[in-house]
Order: sequence, then C-alpha cells, then structure tokens
Amino acid sequence: MHYLSINGEQTLNGSVEISGAKNSALPLLAATLLSKNEVTISNLPNVADVKTLLKLLQNLGASFIHKKNEVKIDTKNVQSTCANYDIVRKMRASILTLGPLLTRFGRCEVSLPGGCAIGQRPIDLHLKALEQMGAKIELKHGYVVATAKDGLKGCTVIFDKVTVTGSENIIMAASLARGVTKLLNVAKEPEVVQLCEVLSKAGVKIEGIGTSNLIITGSSRELLSFEDIEVIPDRIEAGTYLCAGAITNSQITVKNVFPKHLEAVILKLTQMGFSFKEKKDYITIFPASKIKSVDIETTEYPGFPTDLQAQFMALCTQANGASIINERLFENRFMHVSELNRMGANVRLKGHSATVEGNTQLVGADVMATDLRASSALILAALVAKGTTRIHRIYHLDRGYENLEGKFSSLGAKIERLEE
Ligand code: EPZ
Repeated sequence: MHYLSINGEQTLNGSVEISGAKNSALPLLAATLLSKNEVTISNLPNVADVKTLLKLLQNLGASFIHKKNEVKIDTKNVQSTCANYDIVRKMRASILTLGPLLTRFGRCEVSLPGGCAIGQRPIDLHLKALEQMGAKIELKHGYVVATAKDGLKGCTVIFDKVTVTGSENIIMAASLARGVTKLLNVAKEPEVVQLCEVLSKAGVKIEGIGTSNLIITGSSRELLSFEDIEVIPDRIEAGTYLCAGAITNSQITVKNVFPKHLEAVILKLTQMGFSFKEKKDYITIFPASKIKSVDIETTEYPGFPTDLQAQFMALCTQANGASIINERLFENRFMHVSELNRMGANVRLKGHSATVEGNTQLVGADVMATDLRASSALILAALVAKGTTRIHRIYHLDRGYENLEGKFSSLGAKIERLEE
C-alpha cells in the first residue's frame, strides 16, 4: 500500500496538462458494445477506473490494444452478458454496461453496484426506464437479471431525478431499440453530451442534444458504425488544479481544458476574489488580494458540481469569514470533513449543510482518503498546512487522477508517493 507525503506552506507556479475526462471515457467505453467496427478512443485518461472497465469488457469477450492514453477496442466477439460482482464492486460505473448489453443481446446479468462512501446510490431510475422499454427486470443473488427477448421498444421516459449514468444507460439502450424513445429530464453534463454526439456520428438520430429532453430513433438492434473518438477534457480534474492554485494563492495555468465546462466553478472562484485569463483551451488563475467566504449549493450541470464540493471546502478554510456549503446530490458526501477537522479545520455539519470557518491555520497530519474527490481535497489542505501531511488509502485517488503527484510536482509541490 502507498501513501502520499506532502510538505505544507507551498506556493505553486507553472502549468499542468489536463487529461481526458474519466466520466466521459467510461460511458464511451461501454458504448463500444453497440459498435459493429473496431473503435479508436484517444485522450483516454490513464486511471484505474478505465483499466477496470476494460477488464470487464475483456471478460465479456471484447478485444483491445490499450496504450497509455489510447485504446482500439473491438466488441464484435462479445458473447458473455454477465458483468460479475468482483469487478462491479470495484467500480460502480460498470453499471453502464447494463443498457448496451440488454439492447444488443436481449438479456444481461449485471451485479448490483452496492453503495459507496458518498451514499447508497441506487439504480432504481435505470431499471424503471428499462422496464418501461419492455425489459423484464429481476434481482437475483445480488444481480440485476434483465431480459427483453425481442429487444427494447422506444417509449417516453421521464426521469424522476436527474441521473448522469442513468441518462447514459438509457440513451445507449434507446440507440438500438425499436422505434422512437423520448427522454425527459435527462442530465446535461458535458460527458452525457459527448456520448450523444458520438452516437449521433455513429448513425443514431438524436434530437435535443445538450438539452433536458432527447428524442432518439433506435436502429432496431442494427449495430452502429463508430468513428474515432477523442475524449473531452476532465473538467473536475481541471477544477481541482484551479483550487490548488487558489488555496496556495498562486498563479497557475491549466491546459487542454474547455473553459465553458467550468463556468460555474470560475464564477464561484471569482466571487471568492480570484481572477482569470481564459483562451480556447487553457485557463490561468491569478491570486486574490483577500480570499472572500462564499456560499455553495451543489446541483446538476451547468450548476456547481458536487465533484468539486470537497475541494472547495478545503479552500473555504482559508477564506476570510465563514462559508456555507449545501450538498444537494448525495446524502453522505461529507466524509472529508472529519479528516479536514483533524488538520485543524473547523467545519460543522447539520444535515446536508456544512459551515466552514475561515482563517484557519491547518496543520499537517496523517489522514485517510475515503472517496476519489474527498482525497483530492486532503491534498489541497496539505499544500497550505503547517508541516507534513501523509495521506493514506490513495488507491481512491488513482481511480480518477492521472499521474497526480507528477502533475503536482511539476507545479512545484513537494509531494512524494511512498510505501507504507
Ligand atoms: C455520476 O455518478 C458521476 N460518475 C459522479 O462522479 C458524480 O458525482 C454524479 O454523476 C453526479 O454528478 C460517473 O459519471 C461515472 P447520479 P452517478 O445518478 O451517475 C440519485 C466521481 O467522483 N439516483 O447522477 O452515479 C443518486 O443517489 C463520481 O467521478 C437515484 O436515486 O450519479 C444521487 O443522489 C462520484 N436513483 C443523485 O440521483 C438512480 O437510479 C445523482 O446521482 C440514480 C441516481
């Protein structure tokens, strides 16, 4: 097991290249199950979750050539339709194979993902939509056993809640269904939009891309002809590094980003006193003369992203005055609070709301990562803390951040990955 050792009281400088978006790469890899041809996916993030999903697809019978940031994958020989527990339990996004397998083969068995640190994260909305499309859904021994022997049938689906992977699963299911599927209250995250654009280029008629309502005309199980794909930049990774610049009050630049995908984040940082220079594919953040406290409400895109809530909490400990953070999407996404408080932060929780006292001198400590984004918040806190911080269980970080210590070192951080 490894841990990260980080020296505090750092300032940063220079620039960092942002990788492809993990949360776009995962649905795109699952979507290759709908392709009749080999698919090339570039700008693929070199992270554990991508490797886990590739292993799952290989277990199903897919073949691929995987270099660091590119994969050529062919799913024509996929025979198995069982996504088994030992992989799904490692990565809940494996549930993204449910829609494609069912719509292509008319059956599949996908292990229920189970909860995780940030909440129980059910998949009831995925299953309800598939049932509406004609699937028979049974839960057997911890598996979703889905059958639709004549394939899925287009219909109107209204999502009771906005769900990112739920939207992605049903968009993929509808792509090979018979007839037209109308989806209402669909997620609008850039990762969902990229999936729609890729499927549209592969021959699926999709109206309303980028809006909450989609009309998808299915191919009646005719496999699709995919073009080469380039994964969009990871807006959450980019936001994490912008927060690193902000918390150390440094000027840094993040490259290979789409500023448009970070509008809510940049607005919030501007409210806190930071300023920016933006171009087509990079953003430079400039120090604030005084970091102002702020109120944050996490919500679906294009609102403030829940995946940056923990990072902003770390930043708010350095603001002048108290900040309020309301986490509206997940019921338990405050696992980082106890670890930040062990570093000297003063964060008080009341239900979904956190009050973060400002002007706190953080102190280095041994802390434990609990989930992917909470772990990155601990790194940000460690950069400004007095003394050294050791972050344990960093396999959480490796799931979604490519070459994390290499990128932070290139910005001047004193960070090392050591053996426990
Ligand atoms: C996606 O998770 C992301 N993961 C998450 O990123 C992200 O935090 C989340 O969307 C919200 O933006 C991927 O894209 C792989 P949801 P997802 O379904 O799809 C409830 C990261 O760090 N819900 O949009 O699982 C659910 O409990 C990860 O990269 C139901 O009730 O999230 C939650 O409260 C963490 N029933 C809310 O909806 C359902 O059937 C939003 O969940 C589905 C969801």
